[in-house]
Amino acid sequence: MITVSNVSIQFGDKKLFEDVNLQFNPGNCYGLIGANGAGKSTFLKVLSGEIDSQSGHVALAPGKRLAVLKQDHFAYEEQQVLETVLMGHEELYKVKEEKDAIYMKADFSEADGMRAAELEGLFSEMNGWEAESDAAILLKGLGIEESLHLLNMSELTGDQKVKVLLAQALFGNPDILLLDEPTNGLDIQAIQWLENFLIHFENTVIVVSHDRHFLNKVCTHIADVDFGKIQIYVGNYDFWYESSQLAAQMAQDENKKKEEKIKELQAFIARFSANAARSRQATSRRKLLDSITLDDIRPSSRRYPYIAFTPEREIGKDLLRVEGISKTIDGVKILDQVSFTMHKDDKIAFVGTNDIAKTALFQILMGEMEPDEGTYTWGVTTSQSYFPKDNSAFFEGNELTLVDWLRQFAPEDETETFLRGFLGRMLFSGEEALKKASVLSGGEKVRCMLSKMMLSNANVLILDEPTNHLDLESITALNNGLIKFKGSMLFASHDHQFINSIANRLIEITPSGIVDKEMSYNEYVQDQKLQQDIQKMYDV
Ligand SMILES: Nc1ncnc2c1ncn2[C@@H]1O[C@H](COP(=O)(O)OP(=O)(O)OP(=O)(O)O)[C@@H](O)[C@H]1O
Ligand SMILES: [Mg+2]
Repeated sequence: MITVSNVSIQFGDKKLFEDVNLQFNPGNCYGLIGANGAGKSTFLKVLSGEIDSQSGHVALAPGKRLAVLKQDHFAYEEQQVLETVLMGHEELYKVKEEKDAIYMKADFSEADGMRAAELEGLFSEMNGWEAESDAAILLKGLGIEESLHLLNMSELTGDQKVKVLLAQALFGNPDILLLDEPTNGLDIQAIQWLENFLIHFENTVIVVSHDRHFLNKVCTHIADVDFGKIQIYVGNYDFWYESSQLAAQMAQDENKKKEEKIKELQAFIARFSANAARSRQATSRRKLLDSITLDDIRPSSRRYPYIAFTPEREIGKDLLRVEGISKTIDGVKILDQVSFTMHKDDKIAFVGTNDIAKTALFQILMGEMEPDEGTYTWGVTTSQSYFPKDNSAFFEGNELTLVDWLRQFAPEDETETFLRGFLGRMLFSGEEALKKASVLSGGEKVRCMLSKMMLSNANVLILDEPTNHLDLESITALNNGLIKFKGSMLFASHDHQFINSIANRLIEITPSGIVDKEMSYNEYVQDQKLQQDIQKMYDV
């Protein structure tokens, strides 16, 4: 159990939350939701003690251990896989490090000897000797084979990375598990694995996610960060969503009598209780739903950014010709003779399981990586703008204010007013535009990267997983902006609806060559013959 009393956090003028009082109980899975920048990651950091709240306190039941999966999946790039997992048990890892450092000493003193003995004691109390094999078993269970255990994290694919970080969080069976956007970078199979895992996890889970489907699957409760408060609702995401819509409607309909509203609310609750997906959910919901009152339910204050890409010049006929590109990374051939020609109005989605291949291809086309073989030629009328999957280089340790950050990418003569207006449309208004680039939340960083792309007025966009980290309102705005975009694009995404509504052509990079089809994504996945043929290309 973890109890939060009178916790408040404020940055500058912006109050994230004030006087939050909550209790998180074992056996429940809490979905922490809220707009980008609402304060979800910050709240998890307060719970884990990584940052102090400005008032109030957080109490963990005595003897209980808490573990975290952070939002940044690139934090351990230079660590070994197995080592990364061991780091999940902080205390144990500290003892091991200190112990190893003593044994490395050339002049081993008597005091060192005593300290080493002390550490050995602590180490075996925490089952230190089994730690490595436990970690290896955990990794294998998650599908990370032994051949990968001694590699560096930077050598793994996105979903392998998340699995290792999950193993890190799960290592030592924590009593409270905090997960910040765990499904980012995971493929469908891995997401299903995680859903299943969380449904059966007996302890307390608090998980941040923008993925509706995932939240509905795993959550027994929803904790919504909005209006400077955090409010817990019993039930899954759909229940929260429907009830906040209902609240908005009721708020508009002021003439209605209170009794009528209460009746409507009860009918709504009854309807929802009937189709609960899980028994655990159903019982706890039934118990608590009765006590929901009209005042508990509030409409949401989420907003849509304005996203529109306008190409500066028309594209000619020649866009991009890719001929025989091959690339081997760490001994694995990930691109093998890839060739295709991009036509005017092409919006090509790169699909398939190998994310590293897609990312490498984009990096090659942007001149950030050399191919081993092959060539590519951009048409003279094209200008490209690139959204990389890992944007940390643009933000880490960056002390510029958002206005100055954006100025780097704007035409020289643009005024402060223009930049401020632009940031305002991207939901950074007033003092928000003056905060430092380094403090941005995951979704806010993505909004900034998209702003940079909009300012470029490029006629070809290359986007590598642009919906990761975005809240639903921003995904919708981006989705609509890209449907309307008059230029051409290459992109990778795991979001079915996003791909289906944008792409008119699909390219899948398989171990035995590429599949290249001009059709919608729905047609592509529903064509059984085609899917069987593609499967064979993976089975070589
Ligand atoms: N040190 C800081 N100084 C000023 N503002 C900060 C600081 N740290 C965080 N913020 C701001 O606090 C807000 C909450 O950030 P947080 O990372 O908790 O958001 P989030 O809810 O996790 O969003 P996302 O869904 O985008 O990950 C953001 O607007 C962020 O820019
Ligand atoms: Mg966050």
